[in-house]
Amino acid sequence: MNAVSFIVPVQEDIEEVEALMRAQAQNYHSDLDAALELLISAGGKRIRPALTLWVGRMLDAPHTELISLAAAIEMLHTATLVHDDLIDGSLLRRGMPTLNSRWSPGATVLTGDFVFARAAKLAADTNSVEVMGLFANTLTVIVDGEITQLLGDRCMANRDQYLRRIYAKTASLFETSARAAALLSQSPQSVSDTLGRFGYDIGMAFQIIDDILDFVSDPSTLGKPVGSDLRQGIITLPAMLYAQAHPTLLEAQALLTGECLEDEDQQNKLIDLIRASDAIQQSHAEAIQYVENALAELKSLPETPERHALEDLAHYIVDRKL
Ligand code: IPE
Ligand code: IPE
Ligand code: MG
Ligand code: MG
Repeated sequence: MNAVSFIVPVQEDIEEVEALMRAQAQNYHSDLDAALELLISAGGKRIRPALTLWVGRMLDAPHTELISLAAAIEMLHTATLVHDDLIDGSLLRRGMPTLNSRWSPGATVLTGDFVFARAAKLAADTNSVEVMGLFANTLTVIVDGEITQLLGDRCMANRDQYLRRIYAKTASLFETSARAAALLSQSPQSVSDTLGRFGYDIGMAFQIIDDILDFVSDPSTLGKPVGSDLRQGIITLPAMLYAQAHPTLLEAQALLTGECLEDEDQQNKLIDLIRASDAIQQSHAEAIQYVENALAELKSLPETPERHALEDLAHYIVDRKL
């Protein structure tokens, strides 16, 4: 499954979303304008706005408000990446040098703040207090997840903590991308709940695949550094499954006892072992299970072209190489 089947039909709307995002820095400091232009022109898969647009189309949400919502979601996502790359010290994103690789931490933080603020303005432009509340809560959850990852459960293989963390940092925004679009329509609550669960499930799958790609991909394909999670003490599903299957291996024991692997040779050894192991396939199977759950949620909705596009989007999440 490639992205074409569900991106092409909403391409014009995505362009409208990008134009609205670009317009957010007009009349402010020229460096903010330039930074936003760089961030937007670097691309990105635009998977979250695509999700918002398809849900909105499916439920006849009003066009102008839907575009504002999709732009708000992608701006929020973009802002989290600006701060995430600064926190992680990542130099590459979407195949381009990150802001933090070129600017001071101060300028990078402020640019991220600016993008967050403009995202909030775009959310307000939906004229829905409910959507604004959801938006603010989602940002709260994301930040809570990022700080937990930074300060809390480091170096420890723990499934519950992992699932909580990937919900917070990623699935929460997918859930909101779908649910908020439903809220803009006049649909009953049961429909927005169903679509919220759909977003949740594909969001969980999305982060599991991101975590797999961090082991098996390469920077030229992915456009961002790889192998960095384990080196930073972020224990993701492939590492956890590998450690549980090899409890006698010294490096695996460290993950099971929450001891940080500081030695670079040990880190590299473990990364190579995980990359070549069944843990990759098993993690993939768990992501597929989330997608199956997502597809099951859609079964209660009428079989329309929009529903098929959402099904394609769900399949793409686990088939993607980028
Ligand atoms: C990256 O998200 C951050 C994660 C939640 C894993 P994407 O993989 O959607 O990034 P872009 O927008 O396509 O660059
Ligand atoms: C980032 O997750 C999620 C947020 C920005 C909230 P990751 O740290 O896994 O994303 P990448 O791998 O840097 O894109
Ligand atoms: Mg990161
Ligand atoms: Mg990652």
